[in-house]
Amino acid sequence: MTSLLYLLTLIFGACFAGDIVINNKKFPENFLFGCATSSYQIEGGWDADGKGPNVWDNVTHEKTSFIIDGSNGDISCDSYHKYKEDILLLKEMGANFYRFSISWPRVLPTGFIDNINQPGVDYYKNLIKELKSNQIEPVITIYHNDLPQSIQDLGGIKNPEFINWFTAYARFCFETFGDDIRYWLTINEPYVACTVGFISLVYVDGIDDYICMKNMLMAHANAWHIYHDDLKGTGKVGIVLNSNWFEPETDSAEDLEASERTMQFIWGWLGHPLYHGDYPEIMKIRVANRSKLEGFNESRIQELTNAEIEYVKGTNDFFAFNSYTSSIVRSGPDAPIGTPSHNDDLGVYIYQPDEWRNSSLSWLKVTPWGMRKLLNWIKNEYSNPPMLISENGVADGPGQLNDTIRYNYIRDYLSNIRDAMEYDGANVIGYSYWALLDTFEWTAGYTAKFGLISVNFDDPARPRTRKMSSYYYEKIMKTKCLVDECEDEI
Ligand SMILES: *[C@@H]1O[C@H](CO)[C@@H](O)[C@H](O)[C@H]1NC(C)=O
Ligand SMILES: *[C@@H]1O[C@H](CO)[C@@H](O)[C@H](O)[C@H]1NC(C)=O
Ligand SMILES: *[C@@H]1O[C@H](CO)[C@@H](O)[C@H](O)[C@H]1NC(C)=O
Ligand SMILES: *[C@@H]1O[C@H](CO)[C@@H](O)[C@H](O)[C@H]1NC(C)=O
Ligand SMILES: *[C@@H]1O[C@H](CO)[C@@H](O)[C@H](O)[C@H]1NC(C)=O
Repeated sequence: MTSLLYLLTLIFGACFAGDIVINNKKFPENFLFGCATSSYQIEGGWDADGKGPNVWDNVTHEKTSFIIDGSNGDISCDSYHKYKEDILLLKEMGANFYRFSISWPRVLPTGFIDNINQPGVDYYKNLIKELKSNQIEPVITIYHNDLPQSIQDLGGIKNPEFINWFTAYARFCFETFGDDIRYWLTINEPYVACTVGFISLVYVDGIDDYICMKNMLMAHANAWHIYHDDLKGTGKVGIVLNSNWFEPETDSAEDLEASERTMQFIWGWLGHPLYHGDYPEIMKIRVANRSKLEGFNESRIQELTNAEIEYVKGTNDFFAFNSYTSSIVRSGPDAPIGTPSHNDDLGVYIYQPDEWRNSSLSWLKVTPWGMRKLLNWIKNEYSNPPMLISENGVADGPGQLNDTIRYNYIRDYLSNIRDAMEYDGANVIGYSYWALLDTFEWTAGYTAKFGLISVNFDDPARPRTRKMSSYYYEKIMKTKCLVDECEDEI
């Protein structure tokens, strides 16, 4: 044990956390650089002009202990009123695109299309118009965590009817905002929403997570089919998957298998159906086996029918994903049969060594080398699809305007991304830093700052101040180069 830890310190301390050679080749001219946000985290205007409540309005108001600092998104950055200022900042920094999300209950207060809130619709129409007139590409997330409370009250994502409710909402978005949107993201981070996220408070481990993920998969596939088959849309539609790179602890066959199994269980849960048609074989076998031993008469995974397999296969026009960090995986003995558990179905030991570079969030260790490995895994697993990194970023605490941690993070991750493109042939088409602004960071409230731009949440005017890292990211977006001068421009 001691020698193993010593070895890890040596490997990860010396090679990974230390100096890396920054890639000095320009990103391709058509590579897209942008910034990301989501509606609940920045907009405020929580009940403005007819908006309905979402699950986060509800929980932050009724259960303040759920949020580390007891805060909420009632006003947040007030982007509902200050979006033009946000767009000016994006323009100033030279962003090619802006990834934002539509608040479902702002446009459909009850969640359903028989009740349209025109001021909410106008807000997004104006936002899109303003972006376009500043030559910034809108990249729209249709659903990013802020489920209408009315839909939660009907059972939320767990209810199979969710598939139809989401489909109607997605169609409404395509028809209402669709004219010349080139990139649509249907659902943000289904894995988080169905496991550790908000709804896990009311969901049963090892059962409802499988139901939830299947509903998310079918909802996404429906939206894709409506966009392409019914509406003959000319843009591209993808879902946003997310997680870490899972590094094997050693190169033993057992640890390599455990790492691969983890990648399949988490990334492959929806990635495999989208590209190959069905859940990963290892996942089907393990969940079916444990379900049987637990006394269930069928697998808890909710196996896909042949018709469903055909329907979902090929419904991801590009591989959009969020990733911030890595973990180590060690092969372990299977947990005894007992209460169903998704983690026991996976059956490995996952951790992050203390030696890895920290951020202000315990789960977010700075591991730029993991991004290159992740890109390679996606490339090999899904035949090198066009990849859009829809979120990547780092958090520090309040008051950091000279944000060296963020400067280094952006440089080191983008260098690994550029390496993956140059040396490994990874088909990466774009990168979106999370986040444009400091935001309401879910259960971390306002304690974790991800923004390139700081927001003073104590001032009613919510003034924005650019951090040091935003000037570096501006340089990258404008020159497509990470160093002072790229080799190909000398
Ligand atoms: C949310 O709203 C429902 C009613 O719509 C209520 O029953 C519930 O207690 C609320 N609070 C939380 C924390 O979910
Ligand atoms: C099923 O579970 C049993 C008991 O844990 C184990 O011995 C067997 O190898 C498992 N089979 C598969 C295919 O995982
Ligand atoms: C399994 O049991 C449930 C009730 O617990 C039942 O509704 C379902 O039809 C059964 N499935 C099979 C395949 O027998
Ligand atoms: C990261 O934080 C942990 C817990 O606070 C600490 O034990 C560890 O030494 C830190 N790691 C580094 C590399 O600073
Ligand atoms: C920012 O911090 C770095 C080191 O962390 C330091 O070298 C630099 O002088 C600081 N810049 C300003 C403007 O304070």
